[in-house]
Amino acid sequence: EVWNPSGKYRVISTKPMPGTRWIRLLTDQDCRVEICTEKKTILSVEDILALIGHKCDGVIGQLTEDWGEVLFSGLRRAGGTAFSNMAVGYNNVDVNAATKYGVAVGNTPGVLTETTAELAASLSVAASRRIVEADQFMRAGLYDGWLPHLFVGNLLKGQTVGVIGAGRIGSAYARMMVEGFKMNLIYYDLYQATRLEKFVTAYGQFLKANGEQPVTWKRAATMEDVLREADVISLHPVLDKTTYHLINKDSLSIMKKDAILVNCSRGPVIDEAALVEHLKVNPMFRVGLDVFEDEPYMKPGLAEMKNAIVVPHIASASKWTREGMATLAALNVLGKIKGYPAWSDPNR
Ligand code: DGY
Repeated sequence: EVWNPSGKYRVISTKPMPGTRWIRLLTDQDCRVEICTEKKTILSVEDILALIGHKCDGVIGQLTEDWGEVLFSGLRRAGGTAFSNMAVGYNNVDVNAATKYGVAVGNTPGVLTETTAELAASLSVAASRRIVEADQFMRAGLYDGWLPHLFVGNLLKGQTVGVIGAGRIGSAYARMMVEGFKMNLIYYDLYQATRLEKFVTAYGQFLKANGEQPVTWKRAATMEDVLREADVISLHPVLDKTTYHLINKDSLSIMKKDAILVNCSRGPVIDEAALVEHLKVNPMFRVGLDVFEDEPYMKPGLAEMKNAIVVPHIASASKWTREGMATLAALNVLGKIKGYPAWSDPNR
C-alpha cells in the first residue's frame, strides 16, 4: 500500500498500523509511505531487506523483527538514517549496530503505560478470582447450582502486591492495585520510586483518616524479598542479559505456594520450562502471562495448566494506545529525516 507516491522521502512501515494520523504526519512532510501488507505475521530479515530495496530513508518496524547488523547496514546502504520500533521495548534492536551505521533508533514510551498496567491488573484479578477457569466451567455446561466452595479464590484487599521493576509501567500497575484493591506494596528496583512511595503514603493517610486500615509500602533490598513476601507479583523489568531467566526454578521455590505471578514484560524474563514444572506441582500457584519465552509458542504443558491464564501479547492493545504508538513511531522517523528532535530523544 503506497501513500503520497511522489513524496521525496521513502518511509516504510513493515506492518499496517492502527489509525491514519501517523500516515498523514508523514505524507504532509513530503514522505512517500509504503506499508507492507504481506500476510505472514513475522517478517524475516530477508523480507525486510527486500522491502528496504535500493533507496529508503526510514523504517517503522515491529518487536517481532530482528533489527541487527544486517538490517541496519542494509538500511544505511539504501541511504536510510532512521528506524523506530513500534514498541517501548527494544530488545529486538541492536542499538550498537544502528549507531555503527549511523541510524537513529526510536521507541514509543508513555502512551502504553496505563494500557499495559491495566492488563497486568486484569490478569492479577482474573488469576486471584479464577475467572478464566470459571468461564470455561460454565461454557462446558458443568454449573449445576451455587456451592459454598465453588471457585473460591483470594481476596486482594489487605494482601501484598509485589512489583519487580517500578518504572513507568510497574509504578502505574502498583498504583492501580494499591488504590483499586487496597493492597500493601513491596517493590524492587535499582532506583527509588519516590512518586509511587509518596502516593502510597498519602493514600494510606487518607484511608486512616476515614477509619480504614491504611496501606503500606516497602522498598525491598533484594528481589528475593519481594518473591518471599508478596501474594501477587508483577514483573516489569526490561529484558537484557541481567534479567534473562530472572524467574527460574530457585526463585519460584521461594515464592508463596499460593502466590500469583503476572508477566507483561518480556517472555525470557521467566524460565518458562521451570514455570510449567512449578505449576504442575503447586496447583494453588497461579500465573497470568501476556508474553512467552519463544513467542508465538508456549512451552509444552503450559496450555494444559488450569492455573495459568495465557493471552497473546496484548498488553498495549487498546485503540488509543496503538494509534499513539504508531504516531510516535512516525514522529521518531520523521524527526530524524527532517532534522526535528525525535519523540524518544532524551534531549528533546
Ligand atoms: C512494547 O511496546 O514493548 C510491548 O511489548 C508491545 O506494546
